[in-house]
Amino acid sequence: MYSEKFTESLKAVEAAREANIKLEPARMTAQQKEDLLKAYHPDYKEEEFVELKIGPNKGEKVPTELAAMLQSHSRITSDAVDLENPDYDVDVLVIGGGGAGSSAAIEAHEAGADVMIVTKLRIGDANTMMAEGGIQAADKENDSPAIHFVDAFGGGHYAAKRELLAKLVCDAPEAIKWLNELGVEFDKDENGNMITTHGGGTSRKRMHAAKDYSGAEIMRTLRDEVLNRGIPVVDFTSAIELILDENGNAAGAVLLNMETQEMLVARAKTVIIATGGAGRMHYQGFPTSNHYGATADGLVLGYRVGAKLLYADTLQYHPTGAAYPEQIFGALVTEKVRSLGAKLINAKGEAFMHPLETRDVSAASIIRECNARGNGVDTGNGLGVWLDTPMIEKIGGEGTIEARIPAMMRMFGKYGIDIRKEPILVYPTLHYQNGGLDINADCMTTNVENLFVAGEAVGGIHGRNRLMGNSLLDIIVFGRSAGKSAAAKCKDVKVGKLTLAHIDSFEKEIASAGIETASVSPKLLPDYRRK
Ligand code: FUM
Repeated sequence: MYSEKFTESLKAVEAAREANIKLEPARMTAQQKEDLLKAYHPDYKEEEFVELKIGPNKGEKVPTELAAMLQSHSRITSDAVDLENPDYDVDVLVIGGGGAGSSAAIEAHEAGADVMIVTKLRIGDANTMMAEGGIQAADKENDSPAIHFVDAFGGGHYAAKRELLAKLVCDAPEAIKWLNELGVEFDKDENGNMITTHGGGTSRKRMHAAKDYSGAEIMRTLRDEVLNRGIPVVDFTSAIELILDENGNAAGAVLLNMETQEMLVARAKTVIIATGGAGRMHYQGFPTSNHYGATADGLVLGYRVGAKLLYADTLQYHPTGAAYPEQIFGALVTEKVRSLGAKLINAKGEAFMHPLETRDVSAASIIRECNARGNGVDTGNGLGVWLDTPMIEKIGGEGTIEARIPAMMRMFGKYGIDIRKEPILVYPTLHYQNGGLDINADCMTTNVENLFVAGEAVGGIHGRNRLMGNSLLDIIVFGRSAGKSAAAKCKDVKVGKLTLAHIDSFEKEIASAGIETASVSPKLLPDYRRK
């Protein structure tokens, strides 16, 4: 139950519900969106970004917290491990045990490569597992990859690398088929046809889902496939530094056992970074919808060996993070809630925006409503706006919430909030890293040979803003592709003498740029201890 202080606002929301259901809030014009983003989106707060002083993106701005990690010392010195006697020697080393890493490993294995996954937590402890709303694919008659491309390209501010986005949308129908055949229990109608819905910025209903635990269902299936194939998975072990060979090609990684602190060496013909996102960096102090290990590790590992970043200055703040109760502050409230008809309502009971604008626009609009217009609800732990969930049952009929978004019902139900009867409070939460390592269409980095990347650690697939459901899609499309490419590439690779000399070069760059820091990176885990 909400406390007394919400009651007045809640009454206004309830009183206006019928009228708000009928209301079709206007879409913003391109100019209105641009002005809104510049004024209120966190990516436009110049004081929160700094210029990199070293590395391949020297001179470009990135979030202050990321710059600190990219320009930190290595966790080890170049002579810390015995490179001559590796503990593991494989064809393909996959760093990361989420959806992208698992898909990559499955395809590399399918291609006959000797592949190993190393993962900081356990296989499946990843943002994939926490994805809710669904996965896009243009596989219905009224849709096409070309239409999907146009939606995503526009939503990403026309900044996506065209060859990457084209691959994403063209390979999407096959990705769904692959998942379906592996055993993902997608929502289907009585005739066995996939049920699809809209997401923000989609012009066709192409969101395939498994209720509102789509990511968990996909990850369950991928994990089973990895384990059934007997692909080795080294759990609770982080990659803390990439290893190059004497020719400057990626050739393995130094690993850290998170429990024993033992360091190990993995030699590999090709390396795939699939380390996921960065929500636990808490840029600008935002809460996050991300899992515990999302600390931008892949970007740091890649950057230190010279791999370029693309759009590392752009983050996605999901418009609807839980703002109340405090125990779930920042947790994801899936966009599917709005796809099913719930509208965003301010403290006065007004539907202040179209519920399915693209994410950056929706997040900026909520921030404006709360912080500039004084129309937010004080939750006791910050501000929020209402997401009027009871509208869903009024539109779709009784039982819709339990049938389509049971995880949301359960998440709030644990705190005595029945979302079928009461609206919930939301505010933007740090959700996704739009930028990452720059790759070609075969998933190899543009400037480090034999280093591949898949999933959220890639930059450029979505441009400067991603549409809902294109991330679960990209982990599958680019995960599979990275696995196939890395397996094919390793047939021609002769690994030269292993070296960590790049650590010394990087140290020299830090010193000559006058950077004074005691930090080491990658971060590996967030630190929530009171300072
Ligand atoms: O709102 C959501 O369910 C999130 C989906 C996504 O980030 O793609």
